[in-house]
Amino acid sequence: MMPLADTHVHLLAGLDDGPRTDDEAMAMCRMLVAEGARSAAATAHLHPEFPENTPEHIIAATARLAEQLREQQIPLTVTPTAEIVLSDDLAERWQTGRILSVGNLNKYLLVEMPHGVFLDYRPAAVALQPFGIRIIVAHAERYEPLLNDPALAVEWIAAGCLMQVTAEAIADPPGYDEAAMKLWAQRGMIHLLGSDGHRIDRRKPELQLGYAKLKKWMGAAAAERVGSIWGTAVLQGLPVQPPAPKPPSTSWFTRLLGA
Ligand SMILES: [Fe+2]
Repeated sequence: MMPLADTHVHLLAGLDDGPRTDDEAMAMCRMLVAEGARSAAATAHLHPEFPENTPEHIIAATARLAEQLREQQIPLTVTPTAEIVLSDDLAERWQTGRILSVGNLNKYLLVEMPHGVFLDYRPAAVALQPFGIRIIVAHAERYEPLLNDPALAVEWIAAGCLMQVTAEAIADPPGYDEAAMKLWAQRGMIHLLGSDGHRIDRRKPELQLGYAKLKKWMGAAAAERVGSIWGTAVLQGLPVQPPAPKPPSTSWFTRLLGA
């Protein structure tokens, strides 16, 4: 099996609501390796709730984590990553250097929705295009208006967004979500897999069950692109060109009617 890439996992001890200690972070990294990952976006929130987090702080904490991984011979490559809150002025924030791209490589931003509202990602995605930056929609499955409106998701993808979904949510979805997520998978609207792991005892850094479900829904080759190939590329700042989403499938009866 190709090594998996976790494109969203909170691994930086003490920086946010992720691991509390270095030992917990190491235990999470060991778990990720056991889950088949060899690379991970070491993610921390860039959020007013955590005012001490800056791009420089996240980069330094990731370098420290990488050193500990080397010392303990844990085969996981970690990439400094900020989880950024979507705002109207995201492109301006990017220009002023106040936010951190995945790996500090100036290609991808991991962007979540502010709590309690539903915002359109397209204006920010379009405003960032001249800078060669693409938005990764963090835990895209969490946004019900998006999940339940595949046509909207297709438009966000057309604007350059990549859809990152949470392995645990795919593996064990709340009942109403499963059909929508399966549809996304079958239409090629899932691009990246992340555990969104936070702790060793809850919201664990797990990938395998979600990956197995993706294989079932998309087929092995497509799941490998999502779980491994595109994620690894993104963490290295390399371009990815997922095919456009497939059109919605029609039932045999609709086809019979020529509709
Ligand atoms: Fe997160």
